[in-house]
Amino acid sequence: MSRIVLGVSAGIAAYKAAALVRLFGESGHEVEVVPTPASLNFVGVATWEALSGRPVHTEVFADAAQVNHVRIGREADLVLVAPATADLMARAAAGLADDLLTNVLLTARCPVVFAPAMHTEMWLHPATQHNVATLRSRGVVVLDPGVGRLTGPDSGPGRLPEPEDLAATACSLVENPTLSTALAARDLTGRHVLVSAGGTREALDPVRFLGNSSSGRMGVALARAAVARGASVTLVAANLAVPSPAAVEVVDVSSAAELADAMRQAAPAADVIVMAAAVADFAPDHPQQAKIKKDGDQPLDLKLTQTPDVLAELVGSARSDQVIVGFAAETAAGPDELIALGTAKRARKGCQVLVANNVSAGAVFGAATNQGYILSQSAPPQQFSGSKLAVAHEILDAAVAIRERED
Ligand code: CTP
Repeated sequence: MSRIVLGVSAGIAAYKAAALVRLFGESGHEVEVVPTPASLNFVGVATWEALSGRPVHTEVFADAAQVNHVRIGREADLVLVAPATADLMARAAAGLADDLLTNVLLTARCPVVFAPAMHTEMWLHPATQHNVATLRSRGVVVLDPGVGRLTGPDSGPGRLPEPEDLAATACSLVENPTLSTALAARDLTGRHVLVSAGGTREALDPVRFLGNSSSGRMGVALARAAVARGASVTLVAANLAVPSPAAVEVVDVSSAAELADAMRQAAPAADVIVMAAAVADFAPDHPQQAKIKKDGDQPLDLKLTQTPDVLAELVGSARSDQVIVGFAAETAAGPDELIALGTAKRARKGCQVLVANNVSAGAVFGAATNQGYILSQSAPPQQFSGSKLAVAHEILDAAVAIRERED
């Protein structure tokens, strides 16, 4: 079991951090909450103790026999500060140790994540931006705040990122601590990432369609991972079964033809394109305008024609500096066959990276985890297994490696 320390500083968004304690508990992590003294104005000790099931202190001299200011940081597998106020980040950047949380930040050697939340003016102030840059240069992951409604009538950048997004990022860091380097460096800053996600639906008539089992979770995880690494992201979303993440431009589509149009339009602006959507290979020739009726006991003949291969088309018109990632859903007998099928598909489609999944017996679709191989034009097959967000980061690592080689 991993131990997550949840630091809470004095912002109104502290009440949202309560949801994080529950989300971490549901993911099987132990949570120790360390609020700053001022944050107790928003959420009190009793709430944190009840939710985490552990004693909660704010000061170094409380329960001194436990030497909490050293123990908590040393035992942590991850420290997440949510919300992180301008004041807390200023104290952390200066290396101050004037309460228990800032002591913990000095003793922790695990990944540290700050989720800032404050008014837009405070976030954009040069002092805050300087402190954020200082923390990032030390390997601390400082996430961008969400954009939207703030306290009172204002809106702008400064919202705490959604607890589900924070929990997913934190859990992927617990799974793979080396990720904090890419997240702290924000290695996709200034890059545009285009992701297709979900499964297309081909209408047979106004009420029926031919579809597939893709939930869109993998594509959504890729969008979320790219945002966390500083990219601007467009998500072409086909019938998602999960909410799309905040801070991405979402283009909703349904059929393969609509998806193809949206991808063609968005592709020229993209540095990295990931085709995670499960696109129908065949669509009805002529969808019926009225509902298809039974005709006695006659069987129904459907004539289907092939849809355009979007991935191959994008590869055909790609600029030399674009990296294109495809997916392959294969029903393979084992790893060797999966690698062979995926390698052949990567060569056929012409993309630099192909992510090969074994979907025998419905595995992968709709699941929170994924396993398979990343097949890159310039590296040996790389096996992966883990949460879709952790896998998304591995896929982006492969794309970044190709980009860097070409730059
Ligand atoms: N794809 C696409 N356009 C299609 C079908 C698939 O862009 N009309 C993309 C998918 O998004 C995925 C990749 O191609 O990134 C491979 O999809 P997959 O269904 O595994 O392969 P197919 O192209 O259908 O090839 P085959 O039928 O030979 O398995």
